[in-house]
Amino acid sequence: MGAIFQSLGRTVAAGIVILVVMMGVAGTFSMMGSHGYWTFFMRWLHIGAGVMWIGLLWYFNFVQTPSMPKIPDEQKPAVSKVIAPTALFWFRWSALATVVTGLLLAAMLGFLVPALTLQPGARAIGVGMWLALVMAFNVWFIIWPNQKKALGIVQVEAAEKAAAAKMAGMTSRFNTMLSIPMLYCMAAQSHGGF
Ligand code: HEM
Repeated sequence: MGAIFQSLGRTVAAGIVILVVMMGVAGTFSMMGSHGYWTFFMRWLHIGAGVMWIGLLWYFNFVQTPSMPKIPDEQKPAVSKVIAPTALFWFRWSALATVVTGLLLAAMLGFLVPALTLQPGARAIGVGMWLALVMAFNVWFIIWPNQKKALGIVQVEAAEKAAAAKMAGMTSRFNTMLSIPMLYCMAAQSHGGF
């Protein structure tokens, strides 16, 4: 058991093994010929990617940013040079994975265009999708380029570095605000939230 938990890769693999055993016991493999099953599978991938993305967004906003002023200056590089770059790696790629799986899911459910054009019947998820698409745009085209300057991954002058940190922080806050109605819309479409 210890050998599994000493490695993140083996821990994730163990989770997948447990799932596969569960599916075997439940007889899930016999359902794999149906479109409905693969739609469900895409929904599962989508929720996993979304949890990783929004989990990290909330980590930045609820934990890391408010903690920075309480950390002594000489210890700050542990966050800015080690923790934040790793968190940002998973953050931006999980954002992209959420968008790809979300768009595929909408297509598999047959309402990609009606949702994006906010047609009645697909309006709740359509609003959620647009909110999430704006958030993903912000991650890749505002937060990440500015974080690269703020964290010193790209070298810039002190004034530009400070401005980049401010822009990244404000946009991250903006995304946190949008995440609240976005998540409501995601769940509302199939569960009577509107
Ligand atoms: C551009 C990005 C996104 C797109 C295109 C998208 C698309 C979709 C679609 C089509 C559904 C199925 C709605 C239905 O039940 O019929 C859905 C559900 C869902 N999405 Fe997203 N989504 C996006 C972002 C996110 C994000 C950031 C999260 C964060 C966790 C998220 C979490 C969920 C959840 C929890 C559900 C509900 C599943 C259920 O009720 O069974 N989505 N999404």
